[in-house]
Amino acid sequence: MSEETLTETLPPIRHWPAFDLTGTDFDPVLADLMREGPVTRVQLASGEGWAWLVTRYDDVRMVTNDSRFSRAAVMGRQVTRLAPHYIPDRGAVGVLDPPDHTRLRRSVAAAFTAKGVERIRPQARGMLDELVDELLQDGPPADLTATVLTPFPIAVICELMGVPAGDRPDMHTWTQLILSSAHGKEASEKAKREMSAYFSDLVGLREGSTAEDVTSLLGAAVGRGEVTLEEAVGLAVLLQIGGEAVTNNSGQLFYLLLTRPDLVARLRSDPGIRPRAIDELLRFIPHRNAVGLARIALEDVEIRGVRIRAGDAVYVSYLAANRDPGVFTDPETIDFSRSPNPHVAFGFGPHYCPGGMLARLESELLVDALLDRLPGLRLAVPPGQVPFKKGALIRGPEALPVTW
Ligand code: HEM
Repeated sequence: MSEETLTETLPPIRHWPAFDLTGTDFDPVLADLMREGPVTRVQLASGEGWAWLVTRYDDVRMVTNDSRFSRAAVMGRQVTRLAPHYIPDRGAVGVLDPPDHTRLRRSVAAAFTAKGVERIRPQARGMLDELVDELLQDGPPADLTATVLTPFPIAVICELMGVPAGDRPDMHTWTQLILSSAHGKEASEKAKREMSAYFSDLVGLREGSTAEDVTSLLGAAVGRGEVTLEEAVGLAVLLQIGGEAVTNNSGQLFYLLLTRPDLVARLRSDPGIRPRAIDELLRFIPHRNAVGLARIALEDVEIRGVRIRAGDAVYVSYLAANRDPGVFTDPETIDFSRSPNPHVAFGFGPHYCPGGMLARLESELLVDALLDRLPGLRLAVPPGQVPFKKGALIRGPEALPVTW
């Protein structure tokens, strides 16, 4: 595009309020922004000023995979954002750029590949079976979130991290305190310090280890001088906390399935379709509210005729990209036969989610266990009475009352 055709009239700044959305409803403001796009400007509940937002699939992939947009440059800036307190720690994986980002992610990459997560499938299945045994023993009704969808991802991430079973309750308590704003910033900071001290000991103990769990991989990388202990601990904390994202995501997944008997019938009659169906559900589920961490343009960049200036903050919406009609035919429809399904539910570019394979494995095991072992599984209350989390960054049901 020539200089003359660049749009120099800035689009209006749209206020994007924090809604308490329920079910799997798509954010109505995001839907408007997608219509108004392709490149819009937004102001979120916290932080200062405005930021660009891109919503089209190709643009989202470009921004997230282009070194002209930096995460490190977000540090020290009060970019407009959803989270009230969240200002990431310096050196955290989310706010590093390559080559430091690449070096840090490489240290644990092996544990998160398809092969790496397959290693723990038998243990994961065993832990889930125990939880479902208890559920069956106690009988209906039950809160699926409290009984299965919360303890299972914790057990699995602890297994992958190499955290002994006895320390799982501490990990869960710290994670809840770190992620929730309800207990205040102090409590959250204290929990983060305690979890960091725990991982500092554990990683320190595993220096030179040849085991395949994450803290051993980190210990070995520290031992070889590839990452510092501080970097290793910061990454361990984020991976441990990230592990619980599956609770919310699978909460939405089961809410969706239990309100769509046609989808459950299909999964039961054709189990072979389950892995592909889970990817389609991941595409469809609105995992988070609004947008996560911004990127900063390091130089002027033109996107679809709009000039983004050096220093401007830019957000991408993976949720919007997953509903781009140019890539996904009939994007509002859940279609288990969709193929290919190049969704970006786990992000794109260097910061793509390291937990993607793990989340898929857990979702698959959950669908197998709950649909096959509880043939009469259904909601115990009308869908409108399922309580959803309020004021949350990641969306999901507070409780999922079920019976069978
Ligand atoms: C269904 C569940 C999950 C979803 C939908 C999800 C989604 C995402 C997305 C969209 C990103 C951001 C990409 C970006 O910054 O551009 C991300 C980053 C991240 N996720 Fe996940 N995630 C899930 C589960 C997990 C799990 C199980 C873990 C832990 C193993 C995890 C750990 C992380 C970490 C550490 C990052 C930051 C990566 C980086 O900046 O390099 N997530 N995730």
